[in-house]
Amino acid sequence: MKNWVWILLVSAAFAKHEEYAGWKSYFVAPTTQEQLEFLGSIRDVLDLDYLSYATVDRNGLVLVKPEHQEEFISTLNNQGINYRVHAEDVKKQLDNDDEQIEARRSSLRSTPEGEMPYDNYQPLDVIYNYIDKVAEQYPDVVTLVTPANSFEGYPIKYLKISSSNFEDPTKSVIFIESTIHAREWIAPPTATYAIHKLVENLTDPELLEKFDWIILPVANPDGYVFSFETSRFWRKTRSTEFSTSCPGVDGNRNFDFFWNTIGTSSNLCADNYAGGRPFSEVETRVVRDIIHEHLDRMVMYLSMHSYGSMILYSWGHDGSLSNQAFSLHSVGISMADAIYENSLPHFPRYSVGNSRLVVGYAASGISADYAHAVGVPLSYTYELPGFGGGFVGFHLNPRYIKQVAEETWEGIAVGAKRAGALFGNQ
Ligand code: ARG
Ligand code: ZN
Repeated sequence: MKNWVWILLVSAAFAKHEEYAGWKSYFVAPTTQEQLEFLGSIRDVLDLDYLSYATVDRNGLVLVKPEHQEEFISTLNNQGINYRVHAEDVKKQLDNDDEQIEARRSSLRSTPEGEMPYDNYQPLDVIYNYIDKVAEQYPDVVTLVTPANSFEGYPIKYLKISSSNFEDPTKSVIFIESTIHAREWIAPPTATYAIHKLVENLTDPELLEKFDWIILPVANPDGYVFSFETSRFWRKTRSTEFSTSCPGVDGNRNFDFFWNTIGTSSNLCADNYAGGRPFSEVETRVVRDIIHEHLDRMVMYLSMHSYGSMILYSWGHDGSLSNQAFSLHSVGISMADAIYENSLPHFPRYSVGNSRLVVGYAASGISADYAHAVGVPLSYTYELPGFGGGFVGFHLNPRYIKQVAEETWEGIAVGAKRAGALFGNQ
């Protein structure tokens, strides 16, 4: 190999995660609702990035940039909020995470073409090969839809799964959307596993007798690929309409529900930049259009995120409750219970509640609120399990991916049945 090729390769290896040099991450442990709210309130001021959301009884994990270290520490000390360092050196920890993932990749048998691995994270091409293959092998049940291309030109793909070609008006529709936030790598496995359990390994026929399913595993393919290849903590889309130096819009602030009123930033570089107008992003328009196309039968919408072990519902902008609050809470608890029964002892138990109150900060323009506002009776944001219980690094240890996929599926299945019983036409 020519020398300059080596130089390029070696410098690429060293350059990985360089942008996070000097960053630190901290566990924060608020003990009261006031402390939780306070942590929410300094988010924008100190440009904090919550990778895992705290609750009053559970640690959160927050990334702090070099220029805000001192103020972060003094602020928490002043407020008497407990914290401890998680990673002294974020770049180094990411390098370690990579090693762990790589070691795991090479120690495991390689997954046959078209099969889905649950023993490691799933790159976009692997997910797309899988859903193409499932659609091809099960044409009677599965329809692959490619409604649009992403900003950078990846196809956005979702599956419609139905034993009656979506033509039975008495069936209820369940919509699972995942990965509008790029870096939340535990989300796609829960979506692909749902496909697996509905198509390749249907153990509960009722789920197809009574329901039609729409599953969108990667709503934001541009960001997802970017988070694998370039910036591990990338969250937004990659569109450059509003800025070329700071591309991207927070997809989960871009929906037309109290759009850009609270919990967003006007700074185009911020991670919660809401975009120049509601639905500026093709990726959020795809989600919107699915909701409206099936609105008359859609009883449940799930938006899969991480981390925090939470099932969250409306309204996120002001913490008030919708007139479906009782059902939202009750079905949310049923899902959390089903997950708990199938979980591991050291996984944190899910918190269920209003998103504004449980997370401690308001957010506007989020997809679950939009879906609920336009008429989906049961609409939730899932924050999947991640840290806590001895996990290190920024990734859920890949050995638990399968566990999370399986237990989450149990929750979804129970949620669907309760949703059908409460709001379906059968
Ligand atoms: N992961 C979600 C986000 O930040 C959580 C939103 C929860 N809702 C809220 N009102 N805080 O986009
Ligand atoms: Zn998210």
